[in-house]
Amino acid sequence: MITKKVLIFGASGQIGRYCIRRLVRNNYKVIAVTRNTHQKGYILKTQAPIGYLDIEQASILDEERIYQLISNVDVCINLIGILFEKGKADTFYKIHTEFPDRISRICKQKNVDLIHVSALALDNAIDSKYAQSKIKGEIKVRENFDRATIIKPSIIFSVDDKLSTRFMGLLSLFPIFPLYYNGETKFTPIHAADVAELIFHVISKEIISKDIEAIGPEILTFKEIIQILSKCIKKKRLLIPMPLFLAKISSIFFQLFPNPLLTLDQLRLLKYDNIKSKNGITNFDIGCPSKLYFEESVLKYSFNYAEGGQFSIKKNEKK
Ligand SMILES: NC(=O)c1ccc[n+]([C@@H]2O[C@H](COP(=O)([O-])OP(=O)(O)OC[C@H]3O[C@@H](n4cnc5c(N)ncnc54)[C@H](OP(=O)(O)O)[C@@H]3O)[C@@H](O)[C@H]2O)c1
Repeated sequence: MITKKVLIFGASGQIGRYCIRRLVRNNYKVIAVTRNTHQKGYILKTQAPIGYLDIEQASILDEERIYQLISNVDVCINLIGILFEKGKADTFYKIHTEFPDRISRICKQKNVDLIHVSALALDNAIDSKYAQSKIKGEIKVRENFDRATIIKPSIIFSVDDKLSTRFMGLLSLFPIFPLYYNGETKFTPIHAADVAELIFHVISKEIISKDIEAIGPEILTFKEIIQILSKCIKKKRLLIPMPLFLAKISSIFFQLFPNPLLTLDQLRLLKYDNIKSKNGITNFDIGCPSKLYFEESVLKYSFNYAEGGQFSIKKNEKK
């Protein structure tokens, strides 16, 4: 029996897919919104049993359509986010500020609970356009709808991420790897399944009006993360601290590509620790602790990037 209807913007992404699977397990019906059903329909369709998932195509700029979608649900979740801008259409401001502003106004009007997913530790990053646009989005959500809950995750990992998988891809190819800011920046990586569990917890416990920092069970530096990933794919790599001016030049070069490895804005963001704030409330504080550790979890899919795949790792372990 369906108990709640949950609308998800950005449902086809990493958290979105974990979230659909977690919510339908508890008999919530999910309405997944995507920009392109032809492109994302197949991946979305496989996330839920028949009857528990509707897929809707919509533009985030189409206010009337968004109003209509929000009008028919109990909860709305915003998972839309970008790591780099693309031309004049996909800007940080439009996606991280204007869109949360639009949906929070509509949710308030329709009295629909809103969970807005932003990001952790943005406050110090005054030189990052990504961070500033996310902060402005949070402010708009708070101004428009005091019942909204804002979730601020640290870096998220899973087999579907663009972090551990991308780094393992690079580590498997190149003998040396650059460490930005000496690899000293700290993170609290959280698994996508733990973020989905938190979102489920917020909905099922009817938690409202909270800012929740979503953190993993451990703090790791950038260097430790790269070391773990190299270990997982059984490659010894030379990790070299990269001088900042070289890092800047390389990121300016990378951002010329359609899917850049690192942009100047991401490089700026990497300077700031991505850990819990001094007075912040975390998922641990509200009774939803993260359970999945980075190394243990990555080992379950790292064989994709190791020589010979899964079974060659097992063969090596026996020696
Ligand atoms: N991943 C992390 O490490 C991390 C860390 C902190 C915070 N966050 C935040 O958490 C949220 C979800 O993250 P995620 O990793 O699940 O993201 P993701 O995998 O990149 O997915 C985001 C979804 O947003 C939609 N989208 C992307 N660009 C869009 C655009 N220009 N217009 C409309 N929709 C667009 C896409 O859906 P369609 O293509 O189907 O339309 C995509 O599937 C984001 O706000 C992100 O900033 C992520």
